[in-house]
Amino acid sequence: MDDLNGRTAVITGGASGIGLAMAQRFGAAGMNLVLADVEQDPLAAAIDRLSDAGVQVVGMQCDVSDLDAIRELEGFSREQFGDVHLLCNNAGVGSGGLVAEPDDIDLWRWVIDVNLWGVIYGCKTFLPAMVEHGHGAHIVNTASMAGHASAPLMGPYNVSKYGVVALSETLVKEMQMTGTGIGVSVLCPAFVQTAIGSSRRNLPDTLRADLDEPPSDTQSMIEQLIAAGIPPADVADAVHAAVVDNTFWILTHDDSKAAITERAREIVDGINPTATGFV
Ligand SMILES: NC(=O)c1ccc[n+]([C@@H]2O[C@H](COP(=O)([O-])OP(=O)(O)OC[C@H]3O[C@@H](n4cnc5c(N)ncnc54)[C@H](O)[C@@H]3O)[C@@H](O)[C@H]2O)c1
Repeated sequence: MDDLNGRTAVITGGASGIGLAMAQRFGAAGMNLVLADVEQDPLAAAIDRLSDAGVQVVGMQCDVSDLDAIRELEGFSREQFGDVHLLCNNAGVGSGGLVAEPDDIDLWRWVIDVNLWGVIYGCKTFLPAMVEHGHGAHIVNTASMAGHASAPLMGPYNVSKYGVVALSETLVKEMQMTGTGIGVSVLCPAFVQTAIGSSRRNLPDTLRADLDEPPSDTQSMIEQLIAAGIPPADVADAVHAAVVDNTFWILTHDDSKAAITERAREIVDGINPTATGFV
């Protein structure tokens, strides 16, 4: 999709981090924007900031793990700007924990509901009208390098992001098979300087008691890695280029290719996985 000016993008998780940077990048390219986010105040602030920069932008508070809310978002977007040309299924949360820990099933469910079901709902809800309008469209699903390499203590996050990679690979092939002309990209960053380390701010009320726990050593280490990550604007530039050039894989970090190659080599050589730290 090389001509973005005047077209419409819907971005979930658009109030912060990578989603907000994508909004700024696609807004600068002249797109109308619909931002969806579960956090009302940051969403309102993001909309004010973009409007002040001259972008046509509206927002809807929306929990992507709620199918009815995603259906409402789809209707709202068409009502506001007509056909949707770009969908960025980006909202996500981070949380970890040992697989052997028996008492955190609800945390696992929360992460997978937001990170994987949110993307599935987005694709299933927006695709029919994108196919029907036939003016060209593109879907960007935000996965992670955690969708290519499974660091220990990150079980629910890894599972959700492998799922997003698998969904996206399936979708791009189906779009080719059915000749829809709809492009698909999967975004796989390593660490980016965002607020993902404080994802628990968005825990559902039923899980809020966990918020009182002091940060674990793992949590502190992850926060340091995030702080040393790349700026979200660099990720947004890579996403913009992938949409314009219709590129599927978006790898934003120099060492990602080596990590993926190494894992593939270990699989074909029959080498057992070892705990070497985080990607
Ligand atoms: N920051 C990183 O290092 C990194 C690396 C790889 C992938 N990612 C992925 O990038 C995406 C964006 O995260 P980020 O790093 O910008 O973090 P962030 O916390 O800055 O932004 C995430 C946004 O998603 C929103 N959100 C959370 N739960 C939601 C829900 N249920 N419904 C709607 N919105 C919801 C948050 O309110 C927030 O505005 C996520 O999918 C994340 O997994 C991040």
